[in-house]
Amino acid sequence: GLQQIEVVTEVDSTNARALQALQTGVRTGLFVAEYQHAGRGRRGRGWLSPLASSLCFTLAWRFNSGAAALEGLSLAVGLALQQALAEQGVEQVGLKWPNDLLVAQAKLAGILIELSGDAAGECQVAIGIGLNVALPEAVAEQLDQPCIDLRALGFSGSRTALLAALVRRLIQVLQRFEAGGFAQLRPDWEAVNVFQGQSVRLTSGTHSFDGVCLGVTDQGGLRLQTDKGQEVFHGGEISVRAH
Ligand code: BTN
Repeated sequence: GLQQIEVVTEVDSTNARALQALQTGVRTGLFVAEYQHAGRGRRGRGWLSPLASSLCFTLAWRFNSGAAALEGLSLAVGLALQQALAEQGVEQVGLKWPNDLLVAQAKLAGILIELSGDAAGECQVAIGIGLNVALPEAVAEQLDQPCIDLRALGFSGSRTALLAALVRRLIQVLQRFEAGGFAQLRPDWEAVNVFQGQSVRLTSGTHSFDGVCLGVTDQGGLRLQTDKGQEVFHGGEISVRAH
């Protein structure tokens, strides 16, 4: 089980809460909020979550390994969410490297993993998930990319039950990841990779690379067939899109 579970109406960011808790010695925890007034997205962006329109939660976790082994973690987390959603009848979800959940090119959920400490061979992580449930139209219009929510996918089940299913599957997948790394999850990940076998353009800073997406490595790097041969790309400020 989880050592600490905290459900609140409002918080700055559930990731910030989880990082605080980890720093004060909590080993595993779940932090859930109905509303975040300073929700964080990837690449220093914000994350909008109007009241009750999404599921915002963070799992605090510790790994007995250095951060280097965690490259595949965000992929593993995406896979866990995709699997839990499929179990709940939401079957159209694909994964976009490194960690967006998409349905027909529109974003359903995002993942933000933040490290708190990487000392003595132990690595503390806040695994934050924002899943669109029923975004008000006014909010959807403000976003910088096409979004979709569970309501549009016909999901009308309980958010609480869904949260429980997501967390249960996440814990299972994290335990598998801890024991055997990303390699064992790789075939499942590639099976739902939205770009598998597709032409993509990858952008990193001022550089861009065109190629066909071959899948991912056992560590979670993105594999492209470019005109120079096979190349592997690692996280950071990289974006990938169809080309
Ligand atoms: C992304 O940019 O795609 C990642 C978005 C992650 C948002 C979630 S909502 C719960 C958790 N708390 C935060 O402040 N961010 C993450």
